[in-house]
Amino acid sequence: MKIAVLPGDGIGPEVTREAVKVLEAAGLADLTLFEGDVGGIAYKNHGHPLPDETLTMAREADAILFGAVGDPSCDALERSLRPEQAILGLRKELGLFANLRPAKVYKGLEHLSPLTPDIATTLDLLIVRELTGDVYFGDKGERIAVDGSREGWDMMSYTETEVRRIAQVAFRAARSGDSPKKQRLCSVDKANVLETSQVWRETVKDAAGAHPDIDLSHMYVDNAAMQIISNPSQFGVILTGNLFGDILSDLASAAVGSIGLLASASLGDRQTAHGTYGLYEPIHGSAPDIAGQGKANPMATILSAAMMLRHSFGMETEAARIEAAVERALADGIRGADLGGDHGTQAIGAAVRERL
Ligand code: IPM
Ligand code: MG
Repeated sequence: MKIAVLPGDGIGPEVTREAVKVLEAAGLADLTLFEGDVGGIAYKNHGHPLPDETLTMAREADAILFGAVGDPSCDALERSLRPEQAILGLRKELGLFANLRPAKVYKGLEHLSPLTPDIATTLDLLIVRELTGDVYFGDKGERIAVDGSREGWDMMSYTETEVRRIAQVAFRAARSGDSPKKQRLCSVDKANVLETSQVWRETVKDAAGAHPDIDLSHMYVDNAAMQIISNPSQFGVILTGNLFGDILSDLASAAVGSIGLLASASLGDRQTAHGTYGLYEPIHGSAPDIAGQGKANPMATILSAAMMLRHSFGMETEAARIEAAVERALADGIRGADLGGDHGTQAIGAAVRERL
């Protein structure tokens, strides 16, 4: 089982280190780990945020464990050399079109949510975000408008093919153990305004024919933003496009109140000998303000590693064990600074390992 570990910038290296130690403690003897540079550190060492050798290493692995990218000292670089291009490049180059972002409020952590506790406890959902299309990857540019002023433009589009394949992932997820509320799927778009969304909605409706057991609904994105914080209990799986998914997943994580706990998986079509090829990353960023201080909560990366075992290595039992160990650590009062506690990165990693 080959894993490419790409720690990246800021707190990326410290949190991935703890996740790797948890994988080792879980007794996974057949792991082979490779480590590569990505993001700002890769730009500094190789002149590019996603060097060819890193991309090759990622392709040759069965799965990728990714830390975070982003470095303020790279802010002045042209867009193609900025750290963020590394993650966008990996998603696109590796065909990782399906992003799974679970968000739930853990028992005992309701007080961290900005929502009232009775609403917070009902937040347990999975966002399935399309990851390689939409306005993110359309033509874009800058031109001079008729009034002589500069104009930036980005083209938004989705083909039926793109929508159909992400919809399949969402229908399957709504049926599987990944779904907090079985069989419930809400597709989010802006079909009252956008042609892109019109095609999206009609294609999702078409795809629903093959999934009569799933309770499918449709919602406009502005309403969805409101509903996620006012009435989250209605959501099981949320299916949406790249841009709306980016925004709604941050909204959902803010509603959880602890960005240090949220994991993600990015999957494509490719199957390896062990499972589905994928990239796993915490949804938090590189947090340069606390980098290198041993303060970052590694739980989101540890939970991402658990998702990796589940999806890329077919190791459901081990994945569930790691998730249970994290939950037990939280229940026992192990809290990072993000959760109002004072446990450091290594202490949290050790606490999770002890509970495995
Ligand atoms: C995310 C991030 C990325 C995105 C950035 C870093 C390019 O916000 O994974 O949600 O917009 O997809
Ligand atoms: Mg984002």
